[in-house]
Amino acid sequence: MYSTRQRQYLEAIGIDLWVRRRAPAATAAPAAATAAPAAATAALAGAPEAMPGTRAAQPVQVAQVQPVRVVQATPAEAAAQWQALSAEVRACTRCPLHATRTQGVLGVGPPRADWLVIGEAPGAEEDRRGEPFVGAAGQLLDAMLRAIGLDRKSNVYIANVLKSRPPNNRDPKPEEVAACLPYLLRQIALLQPKIMLAVGRIAAQNLLATDAPLGRLRGKVHHFGELHTPLVVTYHPAYLLRTPADKRKAWEDLKFARSVYQRLTEGSIDHGNRS
Ligand code: URA
Repeated sequence: MYSTRQRQYLEAIGIDLWVRRRAPAATAAPAAATAAPAAATAALAGAPEAMPGTRAAQPVQVAQVQPVRVVQATPAEAAAQWQALSAEVRACTRCPLHATRTQGVLGVGPPRADWLVIGEAPGAEEDRRGEPFVGAAGQLLDAMLRAIGLDRKSNVYIANVLKSRPPNNRDPKPEEVAACLPYLLRQIALLQPKIMLAVGRIAAQNLLATDAPLGRLRGKVHHFGELHTPLVVTYHPAYLLRTPADKRKAWEDLKFARSVYQRLTEGSIDHGNRS
């Protein structure tokens, strides 16, 4: 059963628990809810036509991920490495996107969060503000994360595959991904997250070096890099804004990821942030 607070979170995502309670008790599960309540989704409606994560599935050429060797750094060394990384991304000219972006967008969150969420690329609002997922999709992402107890201010780090906005939010080109992935790999090596959540096809396919459709990547635990970090795949929030009927599947994915994390951290009391 769900607490009042959790019900509020689920309503904010657009999971209609009220409808669910009319279903037969034997099948009662929040994920079986149907349409999102109008009030809860109204604030999230009207997303721009093309946001990262909203485009129809097309085969991608995935970049080859060359994991960075994980080195244990002291807190002072890690802080210096984060600073260097941030400066490099701000000044980056590795691909032509630097000419059209406002700024490079590295990421947001505690530098030793247990959770790492990875999206596709900054959109218009992110490009303007220098922070990932701050537009309409970001608001939904925040609500989704809150529903499983995560918050970018305290226990989840959020980043993208690309650090620069592609013009008109088109799909990242393979050469752009190849140029930018080393930054993400350095972030992962510094964070050493306990679990990763790839949101959307572009992030999932590039991190897992596969062209399998998103539907086949959901619902299982993948592993990433030399630390074999568990990685779970779900829909991109921008896609969910356009396809609210799939929010219940995203909620299943989030519960699944949370259960994987809970199994990993049983007995731990650091509240998801080791910094
Ligand atoms: N979509 C993404 O994939 N990343 C963002 O930062 C914003 C929208």
